[in-house]
Amino acid sequence: MELVHRPRRLRDGDTIRRICRETRLSADSLVYPIFVDETLSGKRPIESLPGQYQYGLDTVEEAVSECIAAGVRSCILFGIPAHKDALGSSAWDPDGVIQKAIRKIKAAFPDFYVITDVCMCEYTDHGHCGALCGHKVDNDATLELLSKVALSHAQAGADMVAPSDMMDGRIAAIRSTLDREGFAGIPIMAYSAKYASSFYGPFRSAAGSAPSFGDRKGYQMDPHNRKEAIKECALDVEEGADIIMVKPALSYLDIIRECSDAFDVPMAAYSVSGEYAMIKAAAAAGLIDEYRIMCESALSVFRAGANILITYYAKELAEAIQKGDIG
Ligand code: PBG
Repeated sequence: MELVHRPRRLRDGDTIRRICRETRLSADSLVYPIFVDETLSGKRPIESLPGQYQYGLDTVEEAVSECIAAGVRSCILFGIPAHKDALGSSAWDPDGVIQKAIRKIKAAFPDFYVITDVCMCEYTDHGHCGALCGHKVDNDATLELLSKVALSHAQAGADMVAPSDMMDGRIAAIRSTLDREGFAGIPIMAYSAKYASSFYGPFRSAAGSAPSFGDRKGYQMDPHNRKEAIKECALDVEEGADIIMVKPALSYLDIIRECSDAFDVPMAAYSVSGEYAMIKAAAAAGLIDEYRIMCESALSVFRAGANILITYYAKELAEAIQKGDIG
């Protein structure tokens, strides 16, 4: 048979397939989420996220040295404070859980890159991402609180801050505070297109951050929307975001593609707790091959256009890349 085009030629063997790969992965692009609990000593397994732990301030270095051993060079920190109140004041306490964790990590591993999640929901007694006015989150009052939180993280030695609250104008507010206080060199990774997603469920039980009433639909994005993601990213870039993010990842690959095409800043994607938990549960039930599904899912996020992936599988993925199973 005369066939000019035989795409199978480039699939005929592992070597040629590797030569022709369009998507390349590197462990350098992976960020590992670490939960630090102020009241804990040692580490405690997170029931909703099999294989993940909450760390006490006495074991947070262990979490980091495991990352380094696996080839992961950066983390994003989430704090579980001893004390919560209406404004979430322990979020900007210079001796708060995250501030202490940053100092410990940077003292032990100065080159390990520490990103901090900047949000109020783990620190407020009502579990919403800002100060309340009645039953709604007061946008403009929250900007001041977020700026204080970001500044306190920078003062403690964070390398980058990542606001995840979805208030309007937070990037501009945080940028001007950091600049004014001498932290013009600290980049901001904006959770720009953060959807009001049910995929955050396991995280909220891990971080104790579920809202005590209502939901987050008044500030996080409606999953039906696509153009709105472009608008949110554009606003964040205009306000000074150095990196933009789409979250969750797997159900929002279209948004990752579109926003990475539209903007010339690095694009991060957060493969969230529910994505991880689904793979773990299906694997535990014997329904899927966890390792291969992990690899294929991560790969799809990079193929969609992400340059950075925040994932609970960061260590395992770094090892898979190292072995040549993906990338
Ligand atoms: C804080 C925050 C959340 C996540 C990251 N930062 C929870 C939320 O918005 O309710 C979710 C991460 C995950 O599910 O893995 N606002």
